[in-house]
Amino acid sequence: MINVGIIGFGTVGTGTAKILIKNRSVIKERTGIDIHLKKIADLDIKKDRGIKLRQGVLTTDACALINDRAIDIVVELIGGTTIAKDMVLMALKAGKHVVTANKALLATHGSEIFRTAAKNRVRVGFEAAVAGGIPIIKVVREGLVANRIKAIYGIVNGTTNYILTKMTDEKAEFADVLKEAQKLGYAEADPTYDVEGIDSGHKLAILATLAYGSSFSIRDVHIEGISKILPMDIEFARELGYKLKLLAIAKETGGKVELRVHPTMVPEEYLISKVDGVYNAVYVEGDAVGSTLYYGRGAGDLPTGSAVVSDIVDIARGIVSGSAEQFYSGSVSPKPKSLMKMDEVISMYYFRFSALDQPGVLSTISGILGKYDISIISVIQKGRQLGKAVPLVVLTHLARERDVAAALREINRLPVVAGKTVCIRVEGLHAA
Ligand code: NDP
Ligand code: HSE
Repeated sequence: MINVGIIGFGTVGTGTAKILIKNRSVIKERTGIDIHLKKIADLDIKKDRGIKLRQGVLTTDACALINDRAIDIVVELIGGTTIAKDMVLMALKAGKHVVTANKALLATHGSEIFRTAAKNRVRVGFEAAVAGGIPIIKVVREGLVANRIKAIYGIVNGTTNYILTKMTDEKAEFADVLKEAQKLGYAEADPTYDVEGIDSGHKLAILATLAYGSSFSIRDVHIEGISKILPMDIEFARELGYKLKLLAIAKETGGKVELRVHPTMVPEEYLISKVDGVYNAVYVEGDAVGSTLYYGRGAGDLPTGSAVVSDIVDIARGIVSGSAEQFYSGSVSPKPKSLMKMDEVISMYYFRFSALDQPGVLSTISGILGKYDISIISVIQKGRQLGKAVPLVVLTHLARERDVAAALREINRLPVVAGKTVCIRVEGLHAA
């Protein structure tokens, strides 16, 4: 029998406990291993979590759980990078295998955690840390190990995808949908992490570390969130044949890796454009396998619990077979990849200028874009309000980020431009 202790009885802790109890016999039939949920620690053990537990399972003493000699695997599900870090390190040093869903922790202190695990010859499982129920860690680490990974494009945050979907399909208000996502247990304790793209950045750093064998952290990721997206931009995107998604992108070009998270316009006919609501999807392109796509629920109690339990079972198999010491050691490449600077990145762009409706404005703006080598695919001007500011939308061919920044600085200073230009990166050309 393998004994498990969970720290944190919130959304994911409850989902994990439910699966361990309900599917104990299924897991035993399939693996031959009896996995027993021995303890759950939380600050509040009185709250009704909708789950029946044996007397004595609940405790408020997480340290006692970690130091319980009978517990083989400690599952950290409290979140954050302070107390969670102390608990994970304490468990590893006590010779316990650890499973965590805490992407913030791994993307910030991953190197220290994996070093400590290696030193103590124990494993850290983190399948639930990226894309909820989708087994993407296993895919990148094992299924695609034969490949050089050319690119990863992911919708890896359920909360923001839920918000963008409701804003697109139901014209719902940003703040209302965010509240709904919080109520459904999708959002982080601090939802700024979701809406400002930080959570996606954490997940991208983890995926890129696995894909490129170099230790990337959250500090290596260029991050922009969705909080400034207006319904008007979603509508213009639709008119142009695109959907707006918060994408996490990792690409290797010429030996350099670019890591970025930002709202992105994606052709509406692309499969990833059809990934709506809390669902996540990760597109991975390998040099041998070609294009692959993985899809599933990206947040919530049971989908995330499913990924946590898969790690528990994996480690339990290792313990039973005597191979649990084959830990994952974080970055393993002797030749770490270098990061591409954001101003070297090449993309297509959507600009929404707030331009005065008067003759010559478009040619002034297009003249500046041309000067910086930015060529235009299409232009939309909405409304006719002579002498007043109207939205002027421009879609460009591929351009370099550095040139775009310089052109926009110059354009934003023009007296005929009222306010800061909205700039959204565009991937792929739609078929129309
Ligand atoms: P919750 O806030 O729902 O649960 C965390 C629980 O831990 C709370 O019950 C909290 O109690 C408890 N807790 C906090 N500090 C301690 C402590 N010192 N000792 C014992 N218990 C403590 O968070 P989630 O379940 O949503 O998230 C947990 C982790 O999983 C996070 O790292 C998150 O990023 C990750 N994750 C979440 C997903 C989701 O869909 N929600 C999906 C994938 C990953 P209290 O409420 O009293 O503070
Ligand atoms: N807050 C995260 C999300 C939870 O919305 O995707 C899953 O990691």
